[in-house]
Amino acid sequence: MPAAVVILAAGSGTRVGAGVNKVLLPVDGASVLAHSLRTALAVDDVARLVVVVRPGDEPTVAAEIEPLLGAREVLMVAGGADRHASEWAALQALRPAIRDGLIDVVAIHDAARPLATPALYDAVITAARTHGGAIPVVATSALLGPNGLVEGGAIVQTPQAFAAGELLAAYTAADGDGFTGTDTASCLEAYSDVQIAAVSGEVTNLKVTYPEDVALAEALLSRR
Ligand code: C5P
Repeated sequence: MPAAVVILAAGSGTRVGAGVNKVLLPVDGASVLAHSLRTALAVDDVARLVVVVRPGDEPTVAAEIEPLLGAREVLMVAGGADRHASEWAALQALRPAIRDGLIDVVAIHDAARPLATPALYDAVITAARTHGGAIPVVATSALLGPNGLVEGGAIVQTPQAFAAGELLAAYTAADGDGFTGTDTASCLEAYSDVQIAAVSGEVTNLKVTYPEDVALAEALLSRR
């Protein structure tokens, strides 16, 4: 059964200081969002694509993504006040397809990560089919100091993928609860028993957050 992909683009990105939604900033000849969408379009066996946009951004987003679509269709959904609310808006749009058994897994990706590859989508979607959920993780460096070796932490990235029915059930349970967890996995952890597997993330899968990230993303994308 095919998967669905949700691209979250409804933030404002004030930390990047550009005065526009950061996912609309140009990098290497296309917007951050266009790079993210192009990758999602290259993932095998995706039956539904949802782009969550900030109210007011629709005409700009439509102009950005229309040339990429060919015969494919993308559902544009208005986002909410925080990332969780934007995810919830996308899941409500996907509810009929999930209920009718047309998609088995939903992968949710931050448009602000324009360097994620189709291989990373494949890895999380495949792992979600086996385990119920999957997140990409990259280990941070360990520190050697006077107190010996301090284990490094881990950075969790997107796309994150989950069994569609469980994902919708968890977000339905969270609705009205005031839940505002930062990523998709945190909602599943709070409102489901789904097992979440860690897959290897990609060191280059940076999130555009600060002005210097735009230059770094530009340099990495131009080398592809
Ligand atoms: O602000 P931050 O970089 O943490 O946002 C992560 C992703 O979530 C971005 O791609 C952003 O566009 C999206 N987002 C959203 N709706 C919000 C806030 C963030 O779709 N209300």
